[in-house]
Amino acid sequence: MAFYDLREFIDAARKLDDVLEVRGAHWDLEIGGLMEVFAGRASFPLLLFDDIPDYPRGWRIAANFVNDARRAALALGLPPDLPKVELLRRWKERLPHVRPIPPRQISNGPLFENVQTGEDVNVLAFPVPRWHELDGGRYIGTACCVVTRDPDEGWVNVGIYRVQVHDERTLGLYISPGHHGRIMREKYWAKGKSCPVAISFGQEPAMWMAAGHSIAYGASEYEFAGWVRDEPVEIVTGPVTGLPLPATAEIAIEGDVPPPSEEARVEGPFGEWPGYYGHGARVEPIVRLQACYHRNEPILAGAPPLKPPILNFGIPFGAAAIWQYLEKADVPDIRGVWCFAGGNAPGGGAPFLVVSLTQRYNGHAQQAALAALGCRGGAYHGRFVVVVDDDIDPADLNEVIWAISTRCDPKTAMTIIDDCWSTPLDPVMHPDKKEAGDFTNSRAIINACRPYAWKDRFPPVNVISPELRDKLTTKWKRLLER
Ligand SMILES: Cc1cc2nc3c(=O)[nH]c(=O)nc-3n(C[C@H](O)[C@H](O)[C@H](O)COP(=O)(O)O)c2cc1C
Repeated sequence: MAFYDLREFIDAARKLDDVLEVRGAHWDLEIGGLMEVFAGRASFPLLLFDDIPDYPRGWRIAANFVNDARRAALALGLPPDLPKVELLRRWKERLPHVRPIPPRQISNGPLFENVQTGEDVNVLAFPVPRWHELDGGRYIGTACCVVTRDPDEGWVNVGIYRVQVHDERTLGLYISPGHHGRIMREKYWAKGKSCPVAISFGQEPAMWMAAGHSIAYGASEYEFAGWVRDEPVEIVTGPVTGLPLPATAEIAIEGDVPPPSEEARVEGPFGEWPGYYGHGARVEPIVRLQACYHRNEPILAGAPPLKPPILNFGIPFGAAAIWQYLEKADVPDIRGVWCFAGGNAPGGGAPFLVVSLTQRYNGHAQQAALAALGCRGGAYHGRFVVVVDDDIDPADLNEVIWAISTRCDPKTAMTIIDDCWSTPLDPVMHPDKKEAGDFTNSRAIINACRPYAWKDRFPPVNVISPELRDKLTTKWKRLLER
């Protein structure tokens, strides 16, 4: 089912009893802090903040609307109550059938209910939070869609890139090396031009999740979102840049990103998804605002990264794309793929990737690891790839650790690979290396499968057989029901 906007999604989450309304929390650390307190509890509802000090009633913040597996499933049109690996499998099975659905252009939308231009633009009119204690400022863009157009080829990219508020009409925009928005931006600068940009802050969740998916260079996130929704995304054209914006977005801006030689400012630090302030405070490009649009009583969407294991997308959807890629690369008998400490979406960083397979030949496990590391989803900001046998649940960290501890001989079953694609966010990258602009790191492949050549002589596992379990469960049914 496609949701018309963020509001309709919030109503659907309410029906699942998954929304908690909070009144009176302050934009300065209370909203972000409360999120972290909730993140540590068994249930982590969508938090809808209202009556925010200094701001009018009704100007709300919806925080981490899909960071729970149930709400992520709801947003993607999957059954909300499936076990997590099954949810990931269902998503993986949909991926080969992507059928892009172009957005539907409309002339006006709720986004344009309120329009400010020029000197009247003021993004501090919204209750922009300071999310984490060491953040260098207030971040309006965490659950945002950053829209740019390729100056040579004309195609439009949408990505989630963080946006800091420098002042009423100036924002900071951090885009990681290799990301499409950054490549486009640099193309404008190489021509001596500023890069036009439009950014929405709060939109229907499938659109936002599509923006976080690293789809092929040249492909449209709007069309991908249309496929996810099975219905076109309605777009309006930004009058300043001509860029398309989601028509039902809550808030949006238009502006331009000048070449850093013309203007740039210190951005960050910001609490990042690996669980650190890895990028630090650095000079980064800015956005000069020319227009701002918002709905009546706007809802600013917020999805600040929180220290793992909390994920912005509830489960690591990035692992599904890697799973699909392994199948495309003809690596047989993959049983499951999972990611810890990241993996929100393909291309979103996969620092601890686990692949489970049924070994068929010598070298099969290593082939799977190398293929996983080579695809876009597994390549960016990776660190460890662990391959386990099919009796190990890749989503169960205790099982994975047990397999590593008992089936991997570090001297013979680990491989180190150098010079891989990482980012300045990488906390263990030496500061001098970052300063030199060398954002590469190394990878370790951990083959935690029984050694294939002598797997038949590997000791049996000390675990109850399925047959004996079934027999006892039947015979001792009443005891076990207690
Ligand atoms: C909540 C969230 C925040 C993100 N923040 C950033 C960011 O600040 N900068 C960045 O380059 N990528 C960020 N990403 C990752 C990119 O959005 C993601 O890799 C996306 O696929 C990039 O799109 P592109 O390949 O079209 O550039 C974030 C992802 C999520 C889910």
